[in-house]
Amino acid sequence: MILFIDACVRDDSRTRRLSEEVLKKITGEKPEDVKRVVLKDIDFAVTDQDYLRARDEHLAKGEFDSEMFLLARDFAAADCIVIAAPYWDLSFPAALKHYIEQINVVGITFEYTKEGFPRGLCKADRLYYVMTAGGNYIPEAYGFGYIEELARSFYGIENVKLIKASGLDINGADTEGIMRQAILDIEKAL
Ligand SMILES: Cc1cc2nc3c(=O)[nH]c(=O)nc-3n(C[C@H](O)[C@H](O)[C@H](O)COP(=O)(O)O)c2cc1C
Repeated sequence: MILFIDACVRDDSRTRRLSEEVLKKITGEKPEDVKRVVLKDIDFAVTDQDYLRARDEHLAKGEFDSEMFLLARDFAAADCIVIAAPYWDLSFPAALKHYIEQINVVGITFEYTKEGFPRGLCKADRLYYVMTAGGNYIPEAYGFGYIEELARSFYGIENVKLIKASGLDINGADTEGIMRQAILDIEKAL
């Protein structure tokens, strides 16, 4: 199963458009194999004290089949993960962080060694991070870099790739041309 995590906000999102092209390349003849998680349609539980207590209780009892771990179970079971996230404020939309708080569950997506180091429990061997940015100042540390670190150290997914289009909002930019080139470049990035 390919898990597509869509953190795009706008109806005419260019990030979603680019990621649909990535999905086409990955799935080839089997588009039905994609499970879509559209973050803007999810009414996330607030990660407050009550939520954390309820989560700890489930985990203490080994109740990994709880409804509250549905997103985490899907993430752990995916064969390949595609995340689509526009570049916002050097990072990504808050909904993606909210999603991460939901899926980082000890015993489902990762565990800790007795020395206190995370060890991945996810099945996926590849994660593609698809991003578009308005400008060309796009340091990766807080967006792609953060996801890459999580993937490698927490989830155990070594193969992490960035697919991007940038400079889309610059005055006079050939937006279509940039998008077309980014789509042509997908093959090289996979
Ligand atoms: C809230 C917000 C924050 C943004 N922050 C940045 C930024 O830090 N750097 C940048 O280059 N572009 C920034 N942009 C522009 C977007 O990255 C750009 O328009 C992107 O292509 C939007 O993706 P979309 O078409 O999928 O919505 C921001 C846009 C929004 C709405």
